[in-house]
Amino acid sequence: MTVAGRRTIVIAGGDGVGPEVTAEGRRILARIIDKRALPFELVDVEYGASAYNRHGKVLTEAAFAAMRDADAILFGATGGPEFDAIPAAARKAGNLLAVRRELDLFANLRPIKPVPELHETSSLKARVIDGVDLVIVRELVGGIYFGQPRGIEVLANGERLGTNTHQYTSTQIRKVTRAAFDLARTRNSRVCSVAKENVMEAGRLWREEVQAVRDSEYPDIELNHMLADNCAMQLVRAPKQFDVILTDNLFGDILSDCAAMVTGSLGMLPSASLGPLREDGRRAALYEPVHGSAPDIAGQSIANPLGSIYSVAMLLRFSLGRRHDADLLEQAIANALAAGARTRDIAMGGESLSTTDMGAAVLSELERLLD
Ligand code: IPM
Ligand code: MG
Repeated sequence: MTVAGRRTIVIAGGDGVGPEVTAEGRRILARIIDKRALPFELVDVEYGASAYNRHGKVLTEAAFAAMRDADAILFGATGGPEFDAIPAAARKAGNLLAVRRELDLFANLRPIKPVPELHETSSLKARVIDGVDLVIVRELVGGIYFGQPRGIEVLANGERLGTNTHQYTSTQIRKVTRAAFDLARTRNSRVCSVAKENVMEAGRLWREEVQAVRDSEYPDIELNHMLADNCAMQLVRAPKQFDVILTDNLFGDILSDCAAMVTGSLGMLPSASLGPLREDGRRAALYEPVHGSAPDIAGQSIANPLGSIYSVAMLLRFSLGRRHDADLLEQAIANALAAGARTRDIAMGGESLSTTDMGAAVLSELERLLD
């Protein structure tokens, strides 16, 4: 809750295609808030290279404070050549990874559920992907993304040495494990925990801690363990076997891009990054498409906004408790696709809509469904 009891949702488009796709997600969110008379105000904040050019910071203190106080954040994307040109210290202070860490957004949910209309756009056969419904739960504030020591140093012999450290405490592992098990209980109660315990000590700890939480607190969960390399293969061989995949930060990053192909395009994938439940019953939450800034197509209005729009559905479901509206929005997306609406990434060379026209197509389907 911010000043004067306002409840807010922060919108941060960020870099590359982020602002374009987020504008479509924002438009739809604003419509639902209006239609349902929900007590939320949308607050736009600057993030990334444009913020740096104006304020000398990728995220100002005021913008971060707005994020911290919000009920939810709808985020676009980070990165790209302009962002990479920012001096390292300024780039690191307040970047997306710092926001994840500061808000303790430890559980990153990446659902993979292909829509039948797009089976043809996947590189995988329809019979392999038809009926897939899985969620990757990626630990988001630990592991090699944050471990110390890290850096590049020059050795005495003149060689350069690059170092990153992969480490997890049992507390970190147990925290994300419970989030995955809780989520699994709302689905089919099956969890596949993914690590590399055959070569990594931190992987062995991961496996042991996940199993211990299962045995002592979640006996109803069906748990199995899989090596990360095998999981990459199983995701393209037989993705239907999975319900919830629980894994660490780096493996989750890689496996979720891999799993994206099940849906036909990385442009389709939403994500939710959730923090711990606070005393007032709320939790910090950031929603963003998985696709990233895609600088090569930025500014052309050809990016697929469905990743952002699906992220809005997750926001409705997880932060606003509007499950029915989330279902309606997902139905509106399915209807727009069934009616032939396609952005370039899913058009297979056929006719394609601009980013804004795709947003409009979903919005008009939604108007029909909003009762
Ligand atoms: C993701 C992205 C980010 C990550 C990048 C942009 C830092 O790839 O959210 O998957 O590696 O976590
Ligand atoms: Mg990634």
